Amino acid sequence: MAIAGEHLPSIAVIGTQWGDEGKGKITDYIAEGADLVVRYQGGTNAGHTIKIGNDVFGLHLLPSGILRSNTINVIGNGCVVDPEELLKEMKQIEDRGYPMKGLRISDRANIITKYHKMLDGAEERQRGAKGVGTTGRGIGPCYSDKIARSGIRMCDILDEQVLNEKMDLIYPVKEKVLEVLNGPKLEAKEQLTKGLLENGKRLEPYVVDASVLVNDALKHNKKVLFEGAQGTMLDIDHGTYPYVTSSNCITGGICTGVGIGPKKINEVLGVTKAYTTRVGAGPFPTELHDDLGKYLLTKGGEWGTTTGRARRCGWLDLVVVKYACRLNGLTGLAVTKLDVLNSLKTLKVAIAYEIDGKRFDEFPASLHKLERAKPIYDELPGWEDWAEGESKAVAKKGYQSLPKNMRDYLDYIAKVTEVEVKIVSIGKEREETIDLRHHA
Ligand code: GDP
Ligand code: IMO
Ligand code: MG
Repeated sequence: MAIAGEHLPSIAVIGTQWGDEGKGKITDYIAEGADLVVRYQGGTNAGHTIKIGNDVFGLHLLPSGILRSNTINVIGNGCVVDPEELLKEMKQIEDRGYPMKGLRISDRANIITKYHKMLDGAEERQRGAKGVGTTGRGIGPCYSDKIARSGIRMCDILDEQVLNEKMDLIYPVKEKVLEVLNGPKLEAKEQLTKGLLENGKRLEPYVVDASVLVNDALKHNKKVLFEGAQGTMLDIDHGTYPYVTSSNCITGGICTGVGIGPKKINEVLGVTKAYTTRVGAGPFPTELHDDLGKYLLTKGGEWGTTTGRARRCGWLDLVVVKYACRLNGLTGLAVTKLDVLNSLKTLKVAIAYEIDGKRFDEFPASLHKLERAKPIYDELPGWEDWAEGESKAVAKKGYQSLPKNMRDYLDYIAKVTEVEVKIVSIGKEREETIDLRHHA
């Protein structure tokens, strides 16, 4: 395979499960060779963790190339930007020694305001036990406004007159809806507008036409990395609807979320955790409700980067990963957190579901069916652990030094999904990565 970033100008990094697959780690790793890292959807609901030595960074809206100097980091039009939260995140990262000089924000990105966050909470309360379990960051209400043509965009908060006109239309409606939903009281329109304009001023130096920027970069053969947030199963169209996020996380979202043509995406790397996790409500066929589930939670450190909630854990579900391969047109897989499975005797992998006595090889649309899905498992032998702190040494020695059964597990994933494994991750840090892209 050609190495994206060397022979090919662009690569996408996409989550193949329900998020938290390790996209941040993999993006940061690949970003070493990238000129641009571009987020194309999502907002501060994302939590992408990067560990460099003893320093741990939890990024929410800033692209994961922000810790690499000389990389331009773009927040595309398909993202939803909470100016207040973004400014906080920028300051936090800047204070830790990483400047924001390479940050760019699309002038067309929709803005998350206070009422979006209030509505997120109020709508969830209204749903009660049927709640989605959102991150409460205002994501759904903001994307709803975008589609309903009631959104406020980045360029609007740079223009007092335009913002005032928009607010005159939008504010009374939001105030009423919040009242109906028994939500909190919204601050006065003038105050809300003033706050948005102030934050707009502070963000203005970073605002650009991101489509022009990215297309120009691609034209000049610059290396561009598109960083997905959330994951395929949280995609608004293809995920476990309605237990999804409100954007297109899959590869297709890149074209609309950045403003590029489909032929500009050369490689698509799917990030797959060696087991499965999910945070928030919704069906999860391979979920483990026993001690093993708790073991994966603890050993994998599966607590949300954004909300701190415990993630639900279960076996690897290849019905899901195969689905992600098809939807995203994956050209390679990055398999992460294999070290978490070290020392387990036997591993189970779902290859199909049984629903009402019938076998399903494809992921069903109906949630009702999915709730009754029983995974059909294959069993594979586990592998021994290596000594604590040895992951870097193991990674340095390369693929062949991995335990044989771990390599067989990876071969099995590649065989079932018909997609090559190109990156193997056995720890949180950059040095705990085995890059197979140079071979073949
Ligand atoms: P993202 O949302 O896809 O970027 O993933 P998160 O950062 O939310 O969650 C992944 C977690 O797993 C983070 O705490 C990472 O530091 C950690 N992680 C990533 N890759 C590995 C790995 O190979 N092994 C281990 N043990 N942890 C990893
Ligand atoms: P990263 O990028 C895991 C989940 C929420 C909830 C649903 C809808 O770190 O992988 P939202 O606030 O988006 O309206 O919530 O989606 N969710 C995530 N789960 N990782 C994420 O991001 C997520 N972002 C949203 O828990 O179930
Ligand atoms: Mg995450």
